[in-house]
Amino acid sequence: MDHSPAKFVLLLMAAAATWSSVFPVADAQSAHAIAAGCIPRERDALLAFKQGINDTEDDLVSWQEGNQDCCRWKGITCDNATGHVVELDLGIWTSFLADQISPSLLSLERLESLNLQYAGLCDDAHRLPEFLGSFKNLTHLALFGMLCHGEAPPHLGNLSKLEHLVLSAPALGQGRNLKDISWLTRLPLLSYLDLSYLDLSSVVDWPLVVSMIPSLEYLGLSNCSLPSAARSLPHLNTTNLKHLDLSRNYFGHPVASCWFWNITSLEYLDLSNTTLYGPFPGALGHMTSLQWLDLSNMGNSPTMTVELGNLCDLGTLRLDRSLSSGNITDFLEKLPKCSSNRLQELTLKSNNMVGKLINSMGQLNNLTMLDLSHNNITGTIPLAWLGNCTRLWYLSLSNNLLTGHIPHGFESCAALLTLDISENHLSGAIPQGLGNCTSLGQLYLSSNHLTGHVPSKIGMLGHLSDLDLSNNNLDGMITEEHLLGLKNLEHMDSSHNSFSGPLPLHFGSRWLAELSLSYSYFSGPISKYICQLEFLLVLELSYNFLEGELPHCSRKSSLVYLLLSNNNFSGKFPSSVRNYSRLAFLDLSRNNFYGTLPSWIGELVNLKYLQLSHNLLHGDIPPNVTNLYCLRHLNLARNSISGVIPSSLSKLTAMTQANSTKHGSDKSCTSNNYGAMKKEIWLVVMKRQELKYGTGFFDVLSIDLSLNKLVGRIPDELTSLNGLLNLNLSWNHLSGQIPAEIGAMKSIESLDLSRNNLYDEIPTSLSNLTYLSSLDLSYNNLTGRIPLGNQLDTIYSENPSIYAGNIGLCGPPLERNCSGNNGLEHMNQQTSEKVYEPLLSLYFGLGSGFVAGLWVVFCSLLFNKTWRVSYFRLFDKLYDNAYVFVVVTWGMINDKETTS
Ligand SMILES: *[C@@H]1O[C@H](CO)[C@@H](O)[C@H](O)[C@H]1NC(C)=O
Ligand SMILES: *[C@@H]1O[C@H](CO)[C@@H](O)[C@H](O)[C@H]1NC(C)=O
Ligand SMILES: *[C@@H]1O[C@H](CO)[C@@H](O)[C@H](O)[C@H]1NC(C)=O
Ligand SMILES: *[C@@H]1O[C@H](CO)[C@@H](O)[C@H](O)[C@H]1NC(C)=O
Ligand SMILES: *[C@@H]1O[C@H](CO)[C@@H](O)[C@H](O)[C@H]1NC(C)=O
Ligand SMILES: *[C@@H]1O[C@H](CO)[C@@H](O)[C@H](O)[C@H]1NC(C)=O
Ligand SMILES: *[C@@H]1O[C@H](CO)[C@@H](O)[C@H](O)[C@H]1NC(C)=O
Ligand SMILES: *[C@@H]1O[C@H](CO)[C@@H](O)[C@H](O)[C@H]1NC(C)=O
Repeated sequence: MDHSPAKFVLLLMAAAATWSSVFPVADAQSAHAIAAGCIPRERDALLAFKQGINDTEDDLVSWQEGNQDCCRWKGITCDNATGHVVELDLGIWTSFLADQISPSLLSLERLESLNLQYAGLCDDAHRLPEFLGSFKNLTHLALFGMLCHGEAPPHLGNLSKLEHLVLSAPALGQGRNLKDISWLTRLPLLSYLDLSYLDLSSVVDWPLVVSMIPSLEYLGLSNCSLPSAARSLPHLNTTNLKHLDLSRNYFGHPVASCWFWNITSLEYLDLSNTTLYGPFPGALGHMTSLQWLDLSNMGNSPTMTVELGNLCDLGTLRLDRSLSSGNITDFLEKLPKCSSNRLQELTLKSNNMVGKLINSMGQLNNLTMLDLSHNNITGTIPLAWLGNCTRLWYLSLSNNLLTGHIPHGFESCAALLTLDISENHLSGAIPQGLGNCTSLGQLYLSSNHLTGHVPSKIGMLGHLSDLDLSNNNLDGMITEEHLLGLKNLEHMDSSHNSFSGPLPLHFGSRWLAELSLSYSYFSGPISKYICQLEFLLVLELSYNFLEGELPHCSRKSSLVYLLLSNNNFSGKFPSSVRNYSRLAFLDLSRNNFYGTLPSWIGELVNLKYLQLSHNLLHGDIPPNVTNLYCLRHLNLARNSISGVIPSSLSKLTAMTQANSTKHGSDKSCTSNNYGAMKKEIWLVVMKRQELKYGTGFFDVLSIDLSLNKLVGRIPDELTSLNGLLNLNLSWNHLSGQIPAEIGAMKSIESLDLSRNNLYDEIPTSLSNLTYLSSLDLSYNNLTGRIPLGNQLDTIYSENPSIYAGNIGLCGPPLERNCSGNNGLEHMNQQTSEKVYEPLLSLYFGLGSGFVAGLWVVFCSLLFNKTWRVSYFRLFDKLYDNAYVFVVVTWGMINDKETTS
């Protein structure tokens, strides 16, 4: 065998290794060890310690008998003079589990620093081992992320030299529950204490304990489920406390009653996400050492009344989502006004602030980050407002009520990376000067009233990755002059403007992931250049006057959204689409595409949304369309499609109830196959699409084959698609009976089978469709008694024409009596008494508890029942404008949600 020599060498090596461990040459070894500065007893202790460790990752390979100088082992530091191990640091690089920690470690009697991050060193009872309290010389102990339960032993209080103690857990839920922390007061030298993520919910008087640790400088208690922080302390021994992090504890009492407001030594105070509410105490204004103050995401405080003028060292002030009202003019007046202004980060997002921006802002000339977004700030952006903004790299004024023009002057903000002034009422043109902010990476000007042409100087922003000009009244052309210099552009959204002329032939950036130019007046063809954009995920050109055939791209593409509806595109069904194997959303509706549907459409197995309505397509529906197991929306309405409806519809599993509600978690139909792409880009794109259309837009489970030339029966298999909300087969030449099991399509809300040649009786199971709110069976050849049921009666009373044009139908609710005893038979049918429940509550039930559910809940909020029905009706009618409708609807519902 060829491998024998290699095997033999391996055997020899293994034998050698065994030899050296079984017969250690004791004398030579210890002599060498002393020369190398490692105490043999300590080395043995370390080896014994290793025995107790499950070193699955082979992190401790250097810890070997044969490797005599233990001072050189990974994670070990020795005292140069004495050779004693003083530091054992298994922190940064280990991830192992241990059944038990060996007390042999105690032989390391000079140990000063022990760092066991991410290690699971617990005793048999899964507690922190008690012997840790015996390392009397320890000054530094970090046990971060240990997966032990229960108490930390009070023995740790014996470590009288301890200066630095970290006992935090890796994440919420894995925290140990500490019931008693009073032993901490026996550590006179302790200056750094981090207990973040430990469960301290039963330590009632924690403020008293920590206030008695005299040397304490750093106290981290984030996410500890602490009980109240309301305490007035007679005496504070923590006069050195500099860093206090109480974030993510849910105190739920007035912020002014907290115990720490007298500690004027504090430099860092984090109270974010604490549910502390009410006015801030005046003492805050005396905390003159503060450098970092995070008061964001707290329970609402009425407004900021405290004068912060003396906080000359303040570098960061975060107040997002914490004030219930305020006046930005007044607020800015309260900020420090010191000879050297250190304030660098100021964030005041979502505080219902009114008032105007004032020129004195220029005093904050050290600002690097300013976020005033999501307020009700009015007035203009004053010309000299930013003053010396040379350090500013982030500025957001978005979602306010700002009016007037975008002032000149931003060009002096040479470091600006992000400028977000979207969602205001800004008017006028985009100033040329913005082109001088050459550092810009993100420029968001969307949803304003900007007019005029896009200045060509924008094309000089070579670092720009995001450009959002959408929802304005900009006009003119977008030319190569604008684009060729934008070498790093990833997202470009100019939709909802009045741009015209041809699309640019070239784009400067090969990184484009999103190109949205919909809702404008662009005309002419799409250039073949588009084929070169290999990272493109979203191409959205709907609602323009584009024409011609789509370029044939031969290379594979990462495209996920291809939305081209409402243009004048023509030609056969575009063959490039076959290369878009990741395509999930394809909308070619309302164009002039002709020819047959290609049979390869069934290869695009990631398709969720297939919208081809209002074209000139003919021929059969390819049977392999049923391979699209992710498909949730199929619309072929108003074409000239003939032949029969494919029968293997049960393969469309995404349209079944079992899968429809959990598609967020349905791995095979989500983004798992986008791994090769930059993940951040994908997330941003998704987010933007959701913002634009709402999460539910593409998500209404629907089949619409109306206004075609389909013949044959409605396949019985159709009834297995019990997640469908809408089924429209109207205006075809279908014949045969309505499937008897139609009642199995439990989710259906809108059913239109009108204007076909369907005959025989209406299946009684129809009355089982408890969510049905729109039905049309008119103009068929249906006969016999009409099934009754609450839902059907209601629908009929709202729209008595639903059975019209079927001369053979009889019985209530029609006035025509049934002849013969045909009727009596049907009287026995169980008229289901099912209470009509809107889908909303169903989804709430199904959805609670998992993220995917949330998506669905949101989706149902979006399309609440009334709207949804109108949506289908509209969808069914000719020349509707589904996009606009949905976007508008979404906006309206959203407004309702937020204002009510
Ligand atoms: C060591 O860890 C691995 C993986 O966690 C586990 O499968 C194995 O049972 C452990 N061995 C011992 C002796 O604990
Ligand atoms: C110990 O020796 C090493 C190398 O000889 C040196 O880098 C290190 O600074 C010394 N440490 C102390 C504490 O003297
Ligand atoms: C602490 O270190 C000293 C020497 O610095 C040593 O004499 C003593 O034994 C050590 N104490 C313990 C408990 O190991
Ligand atoms: C506070 O510290 C002083 C000395 O620094 C000490 O005498 C006093 O006992 C301490 N008080 C408490 C409550 O720990
Ligand atoms: C803290 O300040 C309040 C009033 O500002 C005062 O009543 C209290 O005695 C102070 N507490 C300490 C420990 O200094
Ligand atoms: C703090 O609260 C905000 C708003 O409630 C939330 O979005 C954020 O994730 C929270 N942050 C942390 C670190 O918990
Ligand atoms: C800006 O802040 C730094 C420290 O954060 C400070 O040293 C400097 O003096 C400040 N500059 C101005 C112009 O105030
Ligand atoms: C905001 O405060 C300024 C200065 O106190 C005042 O002139 C202005 O009227 C206030 N604005 C509003 C909307 O209350």
